[in-house]
Amino acid sequence: MNLNKLHNVEDFKQAAKRLLPRAIYDYMAGGSDDETALRNNLTAFDQYNLIPDVLVDVSNIDMSVNVLGVDMKLPFYLSPSGGSGLFHPDKEIAVAKAAAKAGIIYGLSTFSTQGIKAVGASSSGPKMFQSYIVKDREITRDHVAWSKEAGYDALCLTVDSSISGNRERDLRSGLSFPPRLKLSTLPDFALHPRWALGFLTSGKFEMANISHRMDALGGGMNTFELAHHLMDKTVTWKDAEWLAKEWGGPFAIKGIQSVGDAKKAFKMGATAIIVSNHGGRQLDSSSPAIHRIAPIRQAVGNDIEIIMDSGIRRGSHMIKALALGADAVSFSRPYIYGLAVGGEAGVTRIVDLLRAEVERGMGLMGVTSVKQLTSKHIEKVSQ
Ligand SMILES: Cc1cc2nc3c(=O)[nH]c(=O)nc-3n(C[C@H](O)[C@H](O)[C@H](O)COP(=O)(O)O)c2cc1C
Repeated sequence: MNLNKLHNVEDFKQAAKRLLPRAIYDYMAGGSDDETALRNNLTAFDQYNLIPDVLVDVSNIDMSVNVLGVDMKLPFYLSPSGGSGLFHPDKEIAVAKAAAKAGIIYGLSTFSTQGIKAVGASSSGPKMFQSYIVKDREITRDHVAWSKEAGYDALCLTVDSSISGNRERDLRSGLSFPPRLKLSTLPDFALHPRWALGFLTSGKFEMANISHRMDALGGGMNTFELAHHLMDKTVTWKDAEWLAKEWGGPFAIKGIQSVGDAKKAFKMGATAIIVSNHGGRQLDSSSPAIHRIAPIRQAVGNDIEIIMDSGIRRGSHMIKALALGADAVSFSRPYIYGLAVGGEAGVTRIVDLLRAEVERGMGLMGVTSVKQLTSKHIEKVSQ
């Protein structure tokens, strides 16, 4: 596929939809319950208008930011997403390489199909490991130790997923990890030969960071069964403090939505709050993250970093989040669409398109650095 003929995230989404079996596309693109949060995440950005400054010299635009102790060349990075080996045979390492080339953080998921060490060895770019505090604390301890050994820059703890969101697309398709070739899935696989060939020749499909303790369970579980075996519903702020201490470096809490929780994250000394509703995959009808930035920034002040994800598809979305008080933003689906369509080159093309959108947008806004974007540049449309 000629990647240069794809001009925005939506083009990549449509291309990914054509290339992937329906069950795999639905896993990547879908949300929970009625997918209200998923839809609202995308439309919420339209409730804000941008207000530019004019007659400013914008011949030099600096898009760099420093978050989680990392100097990034761009104000965005790649959020963790589980199971990238489903989308392309080059898996997570392809994403890590594209991120390194762009000078931005790659967030590796607990549920990645290539492990912390392998991804660490493949790229010298900035990396964050996304942790869950699971029932078997030895697994979480292993992840911290491996991330330290492999030189990861930061750790984030995802806190919105002690219980798995109700993803009915996955229930309907019967998607399991690893995907099983069954009579019911055969036609879907056969209709997507490029994907099928890649998947069948890409080596063992495994949840590489947990397989050392999970292989005994035999695999072939759907997301609900996997969560049931792993996720610990008793996890509280005390456990988050424990993990931050075990790690001892830049630490983010991912999945904060309320002012009260943001204050708790600040109080416990987190480096960053990641304001996110998990891309509409967990609690349905949760508020779009873009709406939560301003109240949280107002409550916690400027001594903690705020990163926003969920629904970012355009440079203008990022500019809105930054103007509302975020230090940086991140996204998943745009880059996994890129991965599905073109491996590392596909992720790079997505990053390049979004870089160009942010740069053009900043220029049109009359700002030459990210910090110059403030609340005077944005208005909420009254309804
Ligand atoms: C296929 C997929 C898998 C994901 N897996 C994880 C995960 O393992 N851990 C996690 O913290 N977030 C996970 N997420 C959520 C993302 O990190 C991020 O919060 C969300 O996708 C952002 O919304 P966006 O996709 O609209 O950019 C996943 C998202 C997708 C789409």
